[in-house]
Parts: sequence; C-alpha cells; structure tokens
Amino acid sequence: MKFFIDTANLAQIKEANDLGILDGVTTNPSLMAKEGIKGNDAILNHYKTICEMVDGDISAEVLSVTFDEMVAEGKILAAIHPNIVVKVPMIKDGIKAIKWFTDNGIKTNCTLVFSAGQAILAAKAGATYLSPFIGRLDDTGYDGVELIAQIANIFTIQGFQTEILAASIRNPLHIIKCAEAGADVCTCPLDSILGLLKHPLTDIGLAKFLEDAKKM
Ligand code: G3P
Repeated sequence: MKFFIDTANLAQIKEANDLGILDGVTTNPSLMAKEGIKGNDAILNHYKTICEMVDGDISAEVLSVTFDEMVAEGKILAAIHPNIVVKVPMIKDGIKAIKWFTDNGIKTNCTLVFSAGQAILAAKAGATYLSPFIGRLDDTGYDGVELIAQIANIFTIQGFQTEILAASIRNPLHIIKCAEAGADVCTCPLDSILGLLKHPLTDIGLAKFLEDAKKM
C-alpha cells in the first residue's frame, strides 16, 4: 500500500518525506486555504514547490465544476510538473473531464467518492485514483472502511485498474483497516502516520535496553 500525506503544509510534507516512506501528496481547496495560499500564481507555485520536494504523485484539485472549465484548469495544473494528478470532483461533468484527461494522458484523482456506484463510474472513465472519504462516512454513521472493502472486491472481480485511495483518514486504525480492506493508497494527516509508530511496550522495552546497555 502506498502512503500519501494529506496536507498542503510544507513542514509536515518535509517531515513525512524525511521518514522515507512517502509516495505522494494530496491536497484540496480546504487544505490550501488553511495554509493561506491565495491567488492563481501562489496556488500554482505551491504545487510546484511540493512537486520539487516529493518524488511521487501530487494531487492538485480543479476549482471549477463544468467540463470545459475543468479541462482548461486541469491542463494548466498538469503542465506544472509530470507528477501532477488532476483532482476532479465526482459529478457528471467531472466524469466527462476524467475521461478526457485519461484519453489525453493526464493522471486523475476522482474525489468526494461516497458509494460503490460512484467508484464504478470513476473507474469506467479511467481515473488513475479514486478517493472514498472514510472519516466523513463514519461521521454519518456509515462504515467508511466497509466501502473500501466493497470497492476493492468489485475492482478485483471486474479487473478495474483504478487505484483505491482511501482519504479522510482520521487516525492510525483507519490506516490499518484500509490496508486490510484492500486500499491501494492511504492519504493521511501527519499525526495519523506518526501514530502508527506508537506502542507503550516499545517505549518501555527501549528504556530497559538503554538502561541495561550501560552495564555492558
Ligand atoms: O483527503 C480528503 C481529506 O482532506 C478530507 O479529510 O478530515 O476533512 O474529512 P476530512
């Protein structure tokens, strides 16, 4: 399973990248706004900086919702760097745009996926990735991880090549459960990635080893 970090914060991207386990980055308009990135030039520059920091797929989201506008915007985003993946919302024009990008050799990430039916459409359109939002489904009382398992099962049966990118990850258990359920990628906040490191018995064991090492 690939690990992406889900943030536009450069310090957090660097920290995750320095671990040596990072395969890519996802962003969205909310994450970009949180970093105070405003204006077209600043947005494009920020994506360029991220592409120069991380050797992997970098999702950059279109801000329009019509086919023509999404294609125009996606072309500009894709021109920033070969690793840019154009992130497109799961709407009717979005599916059309994904098909256009696929036919024109531009990688896509279909975002805001909340059902297996939406996943099938994105896969049929040839999306490189599709992003089911696990945490937001959990928030509504549905099991987000079950959706990952359902989509993974369908894709195995049907031979769809689209990669399942589990998004809206909120904690380390989400990552483990998504790995079990067949996610190809987990995009996670830094805290969730670092949370995987933690176990009290590791800390106790290391303290004891270090103490005993003084007697060696
Ligand atoms: O990757 C999508 C993610 O950024 C959404 O996360 O926590 O806002 O549901 P969240």
